Parts: sequence; C-alpha cells; structure tokens
Amino acid sequence: MSATESVRLRATAPGRVNLIGDHTDYMGGLALPMTVPMATVIEGHRVAGRISLRSDSEAEPLEVLLPVMDPARARPPWGRYVAGVANQLGAPLGFDGEVRSTLPAGAGLSSSAALEIAVALVLGASGPPLEIARLCQAAEHIATGVPSGLLDQLAILGSEPGSATLIDFDSLQLESIPVPETFQFWVLDSGQRRQLVGSEYATRRSECEQAAQLIGPLPRADISDLTAISDEVVAARARHVISECGRVREFASTLRSGDIRSAGRLMNLSHQSLRDDFEVSTPALERCVEVLLAVPGVHGARLTGAGFGGCVVALAERRVELNGWRVEPSGSARLEIL
Ligand code: GLA
Repeated sequence: MSATESVRLRATAPGRVNLIGDHTDYMGGLALPMTVPMATVIEGHRVAGRISLRSDSEAEPLEVLLPVMDPARARPPWGRYVAGVANQLGAPLGFDGEVRSTLPAGAGLSSSAALEIAVALVLGASGPPLEIARLCQAAEHIATGVPSGLLDQLAILGSEPGSATLIDFDSLQLESIPVPETFQFWVLDSGQRRQLVGSEYATRRSECEQAAQLIGPLPRADISDLTAISDEVVAARARHVISECGRVREFASTLRSGDIRSAGRLMNLSHQSLRDDFEVSTPALERCVEVLLAVPGVHGARLTGAGFGGCVVALAERRVELNGWRVEPSGSARLEIL
C-alpha cells in the first residue's frame, strides 16, 4: 500500500431543503435553499483501479472498475451516481470505504446530490464549488436521465453554517443570508416517495422553455407578458416561474428583517403556485401542509424540491414543537483527513 493509499479520508455532504424558489433554477431564476444536519458520509482510503463501497442503507455493495466508460450501466442502481462522478472526474485513483447516511432517499432532500458530492470529494475533486457542482450535475443526468438544474449541488457546496443561500442561476452568484434567531424551520416527510418525477420534471422544464421562446427569459419577464402565450398550460408554468422569482426576492428581505409573518405568507403563496400553476403537488403533500398550517405558531408551509411526493418545509416560531426534523443550516460539504 502506498503512502497516499494509507491515508484515511472522510467526506461529509449534507442534504438541502429549499426554503423557496422551486422549478426556477433551470430557467436562470432565483432560489433560497439551506443545508440540513442530515448528511451522507463516506469514509475510507484511496486505492488504484477501482471504487469499492459498502453502504449502511443499500443491501448490495458496489464495485466499479476504473476508468468508467459506461456509467449509466453500473449496478446496483445507486452505483450509477458513483460511476457517473468517476466518469466525469476521470480520477486516476479510486476509493475503498463505507457509506452511511442519515438522509432519507427519495424524500426530496437531495440524497443523490449529497452522494455525488461526497464521492467527488473522496476521489480528489478540487476547484471552485461551481465547477464541482457542474461535474456532479452531469453525473446526476447520466444516472437518472432527468434534466435537473444546479440547485441541489450548489446549495450543498456553497452554504455557510447558520445561513440560507440566495442563488441567482443567471449570474451564478451566491449570497449567504443568516437565518434569524426567531425563525425555526422544520422538515416533514409526507411519507410519499417521489413518483413520476423523471418524465414530469422534463415535461415541466420543456413547457417553461416554450414560454421563454415566446416572451424571453422568465426571471426577467412580467406577469403582463403572459398575454403573448396562447397555450394555457404553458402560460401557467411561466406564471409560476415569474411569480416565484419575485417571492424569492421578497423572502430574502424578510430573512434580513426577521419578519416571520411575511416570510410564512410568501412560503404559502409559493406552495399554492406550485400546486395550481405548476401542478407538482400531491394529496399527501396537501394533507401535510394543511395539518401544519392549523398549528398555532406555524406561519408557512410548502412542498420543497421537485414535488410529486417527498417533504414539506415549515416555518414556525421557536416555541412550536412539530413531528418532524427541526433543521438548522449546517454548512457546506467537506473533506477531512483522519
Ligand atoms: C430537483 C432538481 C433541482 C430543482 C428542484 C426544483 O431537486 O434536482 O435542480 O429543479 O428539483 O426546484
């Protein structure tokens, strides 16, 4: 074993919850996610010629030979994310180790992006967060075939502890905004694993692109521009993106001023827009939001991420106790030498 191979490494990549600004990233809009304390951890050492990983949540271990030529065919299925990253990185050294995760899979908290980023870090990815985020996004596209945006990867790589991150997907600028002490965010699992997310996500994205062909970049368009779109469905998708970008801007101001009531109201409006104009909610998510909003001291609740199942994020006063995860912004993914 060489000196490089004997060094033990640990990569920790948190999940993310998007507080507001969903289905805006791939249109060059705005979003405001924060990382959560639940994370995926990979620990082990570099080895030549292969990646071998055992997982605490997957029955089958993974063995990938390097270089990876066809990552989409890796088995078992979770290996596609790992192989996708190795393929994109073209790393000369592989890795032998264990994966453990406190992130529920398929719940909309970016467990796949956390895995990709942890793999990229243990394989030696370096450089600015945007570069690693793009590499992991490409791996995600290979693994799932879903044309997802950069939200998950940028949130996980570009966040500071204690702050949410305002991301402008046009300029690709990130701004940390401290979460006020009076705000408490909660994440609640609807119990419904995401369904139909692949094909429906791609359809939504292409409807938004059709709208942009007619009225230009949606984040810079105005609601009055929608009269130029005759297809009602396409117009509704565009209305969501245009109005959601406005809400993200306003929500950022409420975080800065500590106005919990206005912040909650914006989250509720965002949820309604995702339900009515973007049509990505489900009966399970609706029930979850309804139950939460009936609790005194809860100011806002919305589905978070792609929708079609997964989690709801709620904003409550500190004194409130809910049956879910109380989440504080945990900061970015990191690599440690043990
Ligand atoms: C998924 C995608 C992101 C983003 C969200 C919706 O999480 O991976 O790129 O589009 O859905 O906001």
